[in-house]
Amino acid sequence: MTSTRAIKVLGIGGSLRDGSQSERALRIALAGAEEAGAEVSAITGSALLLPFYDAGIDERAPEALQLVEAVRAADGIVVVSPGYHGALSGLVKNALDYVEDLRSDTRPYLDGRGVGLIAVAYGWQAAVTTLDQLRTIAHALRGWPTPLGGAVNTAEVKFDEAGGASEERVVANLRLIGRQVAEFGVARRTLG
Ligand SMILES: Cc1cc2nc3c(=O)[nH]c(=O)nc-3n(C[C@H](O)[C@H](O)[C@H](O)COP(=O)(O)O)c2cc1C
Repeated sequence: MTSTRAIKVLGIGGSLRDGSQSERALRIALAGAEEAGAEVSAITGSALLLPFYDAGIDERAPEALQLVEAVRAADGIVVVSPGYHGALSGLVKNALDYVEDLRSDTRPYLDGRGVGLIAVAYGWQAAVTTLDQLRTIAHALRGWPTPLGGAVNTAEVKFDEAGGASEERVVANLRLIGRQVAEFGVARRTLG
């Protein structure tokens, strides 16, 4: 029997800064997933303040367990990082390192999940190199990056509190990424 439950899309990312531009970008992408019928949730800001991932121990902080469980339950993921020195931030990378705890699952790592990837930096160079790194990581984790990725230059576009941005085109692209994650989840479920 085909399941009729909503596809679950989890957003991970942003920075610890008040008014984080990358978190706002994430929320726009998740709104796109929601419009496409997904049930969305997000782990952002201080919820990403996890101990450094330690592969040598089994104990995990409650917040880390929550993150791992949320990824396990998700049908699709959106990851957004600010560009820090041309790369994704340590905060986001450390969160992604915890996906290692799904290595023995029947759906290991990000297997079978659409992954929307967005990089937000104050310049094109870091936006593009960070997006590229996020894609490499998603592939390494056996995820399925969406056809459209997001490279946002905050020197040219600003996200507001209300879920919009100074450039409607950017909002539309980010929403489309979220939509593609949700649609991949539906397509994948249809295949069984
Ligand atoms: C530690 C640090 C390093 C950064 N490095 C770069 C960089 O290499 N290139 C760039 O374009 N922007 C860089 N930025 C700017 C951020 O990518 C940009 O302000 C981004 O919008 C921040 O995201 P946030 O608002 O979510 O914190 C850096 C910012 C910080 C705090």
